[in-house]
Amino acid sequence: MLTRRHLLTAAATAGFAAALPRPLEKYDYRRALGSPSPMRSGKTVEIALVSQERQVALPCFNGKTLPMWTFTEGAWPPVIRLNHGDRLHATLENKLPRADQLNSIHWHGIRLPNSQDGVPYLVQQPIEPGQRCEYSFVPPDTGTFFFHTHCNTVEQLGRGLMGVLIIDGDTTQPYDADELLLLRDWRVDAEAGEFNSFYTLRGAARAGSYGAVRSVNGAVNPEIRLPAAGDCRLRLVNTDPTRILRIGVEDAEAAVVAIDGVAARPFTLSTWPMAPGTRVDLVIRAPQDGEVARLVDSANEERPVTMARLVGQGAPRRTSYFDPAPLRRSRIPEPSVAGATVLDFVFETSDAGRAFAALGDIKGAEMAPLCMSEKYFWTINGKPWPDHGNARLPPPLAVLARNRSYVFRMRNNTPFTHPIHIHGHSFKRYASTRQKWTPHNVDTFLLLPGEEAHSAIVADNPGDWMIHCHVLEHQESGMMGYFRVT
Ligand code: C2O
Ligand code: CU
Repeated sequence: MLTRRHLLTAAATAGFAAALPRPLEKYDYRRALGSPSPMRSGKTVEIALVSQERQVALPCFNGKTLPMWTFTEGAWPPVIRLNHGDRLHATLENKLPRADQLNSIHWHGIRLPNSQDGVPYLVQQPIEPGQRCEYSFVPPDTGTFFFHTHCNTVEQLGRGLMGVLIIDGDTTQPYDADELLLLRDWRVDAEAGEFNSFYTLRGAARAGSYGAVRSVNGAVNPEIRLPAAGDCRLRLVNTDPTRILRIGVEDAEAAVVAIDGVAARPFTLSTWPMAPGTRVDLVIRAPQDGEVARLVDSANEERPVTMARLVGQGAPRRTSYFDPAPLRRSRIPEPSVAGATVLDFVFETSDAGRAFAALGDIKGAEMAPLCMSEKYFWTINGKPWPDHGNARLPPPLAVLARNRSYVFRMRNNTPFTHPIHIHGHSFKRYASTRQKWTPHNVDTFLLLPGEEAHSAIVADNPGDWMIHCHVLEHQESGMMGYFRVT
């Protein structure tokens, strides 16, 4: 099966492999991708986002109301929907309740102009409480995206400061339904009705701090109603700060049609890893009236978790065999790997990170005496991001010439998995020592322990662009850097 992770033993070699085996392209559905969506100039969509503490009783909070941080009143989260070619004009006002909470918005996965990318200090001054700023851009790509704060992300996103951004225009044929399924945990103490601390040293030095309540669209294992026997698009978004899921669908045929917003030629879903920050668009043939399929996370193989029940309703829509309509091909430029310059990115644990990871289950207070000549647990090419607040900018990890192709040769020398997110560009991932897939685009590359993986970009977007782990406690404890396209 294409989607099965292929576990080759990664040779723990000192240097990088000269070349990695490339997977074969195989498809199990008939139809190829459609032509790219024609980009017309459209309307301007205005939205006012006000970061604020709001008391919200999501169904998964079990009757409790929690002080969430959100961008809008009303339903959480806001969903912005544009047609391809539309301009988004957003205002952000920071009304967060604490004076130390700066704010900005990163439009995750959107290949936008650098000045609109929302990274504090690198491309804009962060917005102080009481201040506001504006973002304005025309997204060049169709698909499923999201946006989130890029300041103290671990707490601000942990409290809910995010929204969804969908750019329409990618279908070749209408589906029978189009549903958004937002996957995330909440760091809540359900009894006390409070948030747990979002950043823990223990979590930061290991796989991150997991939430206690798992939800889809703010509810535990909700029922999602779909037209019976319809071909239904499910847009899965993992906005969790920490958890890496492995999603699958039981009791319905399902195909992957897009990864991180980018159309992929449809292939059968067996299971697919979904790291924080990633999206997967599925098309499933919905169950018959009254029957139930399930969205399942099998990251823990012994204890798979049903995330949502997918229930068929009404008269059957389709009787033909399942051959899901593909989406339209993206406009992301195709890098030329052959002539590309190779850049090495090595992800490692710092000495402090190793020391903390070895300490076992001790409390923050007990750590205090050990604290902490070094609070950085992770490095990229030997360097940690030097400051939680980003104010002291280090030099770029690499300088790239505009419009040339580059191979990012990434190696994970840590015992943990890191979803490596790139800003302003999209990785074409094509070779790995530990995973096997048909080459495809991602903006967040799941890098397994010991893995070496090769992906490529055309450096067509000038500016300073972040590359960081999207396990947010790792990002906040050093695993972050940037490259410059001149
Ligand atoms: Cu979704 Cu730099 O992050
Ligand atoms: Cu990480």
